[in-house]
Amino acid sequence: MSDKKIIIAIDGYSSSGKSTMARRLAAEIGYRYIDSGAMYRAVTLYALENGIIASDGSINRPALQKALPKLHIDFMPMTDGSQHTMLNGRDVETEIRQLRVSDNVSPVAAIKEVRTALTDLQRRLGRDKGIVMDGRDIGTTVFPDAELKVFVNASAEMRARRRFLEMNDKGDDVNYEEVLANVVRRDHIDETREESPLRRAADAVDLDNSSMSIDEQNRWLEDQFHKALTRAK
Ligand code: DC
Repeated sequence: MSDKKIIIAIDGYSSSGKSTMARRLAAEIGYRYIDSGAMYRAVTLYALENGIIASDGSINRPALQKALPKLHIDFMPMTDGSQHTMLNGRDVETEIRQLRVSDNVSPVAAIKEVRTALTDLQRRLGRDKGIVMDGRDIGTTVFPDAELKVFVNASAEMRARRRFLEMNDKGDDVNYEEVLANVVRRDHIDETREESPLRRAADAVDLDNSSMSIDEQNRWLEDQFHKALTRAK
């Protein structure tokens, strides 16, 4: 077996199941998994906690810009194989998944300075290859030369249902309509922002997983990985 390592970029809409498949593939093939959305969420949490986002949702851009160099975002491996997002040394994995962060993250992710800082960090994490990174602009902006790019899609209703069940399981008090509205709103902001909008890379392989089981998705992705590795040799 060759020790050649590649970069795998998995982009797509929110709650399309891309994190689950990216995480599993990474565990399967011994690569590092990076959830780039978690980084945008961590910046948003910081902004919420430090009065940079007002209660009406408006963002104090100069204050956020000034805070960016002070933010240290990292991932801590857990004994169960998962990893938790760390913000300045604090485990924020639970907080960044809550609706108040989901509701405010897209406008934060549309800010140029935030994207520049996080793109730099993501590129540093991918310097030695051997990573699976998921997000919105990984195949287009962060790693335009990634050896494998996947673009994942599923209907908004299906994605909202998945997110709703996930949040319900965790005991969050949410209703389906609220989650669907959040999904639709985020799709719109992510697709229409000026800086690195959610876009399919021209050389990405498409996956619509609306009617696929998680096992089917994983098999499909592993197959794509082996093909990409063979091409890269
Ligand atoms: O994948 P997610 O739902 O955790 O992403 C959270 C937000 O961050 C979402 O609104 C889009 C944004 N994001 C982005 O703009 N670029 C990325 N590479 C990853 C996420």
